[in-house]
Parts: sequence; structure tokens; C-alpha cells
Amino acid sequence: MSNRTFTMIKPDAMEKGYAGQIIDRFEKEGFKLVALKLTKLSPEKAGEFYAIHKERPFYNDLVAYMSRGPIIAAILEKENAVTSFRELIGATNPVNAAEGTIRKEFAVSIEENAVHGSDSDENAAIEGDFFFNAFERVI
Ligand code: CDP
Ligand code: MG
Repeated sequence: MSNRTFTMIKPDAMEKGYAGQIIDRFEKEGFKLVALKLTKLSPEKAGEFYAIHKERPFYNDLVAYMSRGPIIAAILEKENAVTSFRELIGATNPVNAAEGTIRKEFAVSIEENAVHGSDSDENAAIEGDFFFNAFERVI
């Protein structure tokens, strides 16, 4: 079981000025920042990141949404990080997200759902490597 996961604060949350509050939730829940970056995805990069969803009907909208403004990317560390972080962010659709989760508080729709969280240790490593080189993270 890996102790790292990868997250993004998505454009909708950045536009509304929720970045600080969301990072505060990460830290209050015991996640340590081990890499952090403010950037903006090109449509090509957003498409590459979400390539697993290429055949899904929401793919084109997802790529447009994720490339429309700045995001914050981060690697977070905590015991059982992937599972623990998915619990903290809540269900993909905020309507189904539990009380107290980040998506319940900050998401507006199934698409514009404020934050990303890796779904497995393998994907956490792949996604972290997508954004951060060795000099940009705490070892
Ligand atoms: O982010 P999560 O792992 O919870 O969900 P996903 O199924 O991996 O989908 C990735 C992202 O695509 C979601 O977080 C939404 O932003 C978007 N999505 C969407 O726009 N419409 C859907 N029906 C499902 C997902
Ligand atoms: Mg996912």
C-alpha cells in the first residue's frame, strides 16, 4: 500500500477562489504536501491526462473544462493515501457525495467537481510523474 496520492484543484474551484480552503482541508485531514504546482493544462495535455476516458461521451467537454483555466497539481502523503483521499473528496457527482467531503462543499456538478484524486497506487505514481520531476518533489 503506497502512502502517496496525486490531486488537482480543478478550474472551477480555482475560479471561485477555493484553492486555499481546499489545501487547508488536505492538511487538516493529515495529508502532507510533497509536491505542489500552479499551472494551466493545454487541451492536448488535458486530453493526455484523461486518455483513459477517450471513448466516454463526456470526454470532449472534460478536456475543454480542464484546460479553460489554471489548476493546482499536488502530490500528497499520508498512510493509505489513495483510499483515504478518495474518502475525503467524496463521490464524483456532488449530489452523491457524503456530508463533510470536499466535493459536497465545493463541487457544482458531476463535471465541475472541484478536485481530482487518483483511483489507485499505480495511477497515483503515473499522474504524479505526469506533472513533477525529481527536483520538484520531496523525496
Ligand atoms: O474524478 P473521478 O475519479 O471521481 O471520476 P472519473 O469517473 O474518473 O471521471 C473523471 C472526471 O470526468 C470527473 O471527475 C468529472 O470531472 C468528469 N466526468 C464528467 O464530466 N461526467 C461524467 N459522467 C463522469 C465524469
Ligand atoms: Mg477517476
